[in-house]
Amino acid sequence: MSENKSVEPVIGLIGGSGLYDIDGLENKEWRTVETPWGAPSDQLLFGRFDGVKCVFLPRHGRGHPIPPSRLNYRANIAAMKMSGVTDIVSLSAVGSLKEELPPGHFVIVDQFIDRTIWREKSFFDTGCVAHISMADPLCPRIGSVLETQARALDLNVVRGGTYLVMEGPQFSTRAESELYRSWGCSVIGMTNMPEASLAREAEMCYATVAMVTDYDCWHEEHDNVTVDSVIKIMQKNSANAKALVKAVIPALGQRRDLCFAGCDRALEHALITAPEA
Ligand code: ADE
Repeated sequence: MSENKSVEPVIGLIGGSGLYDIDGLENKEWRTVETPWGAPSDQLLFGRFDGVKCVFLPRHGRGHPIPPSRLNYRANIAAMKMSGVTDIVSLSAVGSLKEELPPGHFVIVDQFIDRTIWREKSFFDTGCVAHISMADPLCPRIGSVLETQARALDLNVVRGGTYLVMEGPQFSTRAESELYRSWGCSVIGMTNMPEASLAREAEMCYATVAMVTDYDCWHEEHDNVTVDSVIKIMQKNSANAKALVKAVIPALGQRRDLCFAGCDRALEHALITAPEA
């Protein structure tokens, strides 16, 4: 029975704007990983932190050359899977849609609303068709580790919240921003879908630290989002994110049982139609 298996975790880190490396990684090596879905955003950085195997991918490539709509999400997630990754921590800059989530706050989100329109969203789009559950799109086990470690570091962290994923690259209009607020969304960003759904299809646990850089454009007492304001707060967020990553890797890296939430066995419960012979 699969329930008795134990797992030696390999931690995958996907870094967004402002995160292009992992401090303190030993035996570092950037390696090219080819996938059946093409090339990922960049080479992947392999190494060990505190003895734990880690694989880092700069989501937009080193130097940030690739915009959200042009990322090859399937190649990025396939490259993680092919590198043996079991647990992904996604670090992503977002705008805030709530007064109580000012810039500098970290939100460990638990839901997505996906408004993206141009992206390849599934590994199962030809031949074998599979419909996996996305009811709870983020791994609560990794979420708990992130929350515990963020609190221990005294970071401003909130557990739970909905991340609205927009296509971009332009930021939202005020009417869109107000619409998403009326839906109860907490944060807005451009990258976490289909990253999370592909990770689920590939049976890897995936959790997001959404790092607030701005109040989007809805907040009357704050300037509309500008690149300058985003970059300034991103530098502070990036220092906090690096500290959080260092605390989280050893905690996530312990040999463990299969994930209680079943993210690592998502296809066992999927509706699958095999191609006709
Ligand atoms: N990333 C950072 N801030 C953002 C915003 N306001 N909207 C979308 N993506 C973002």
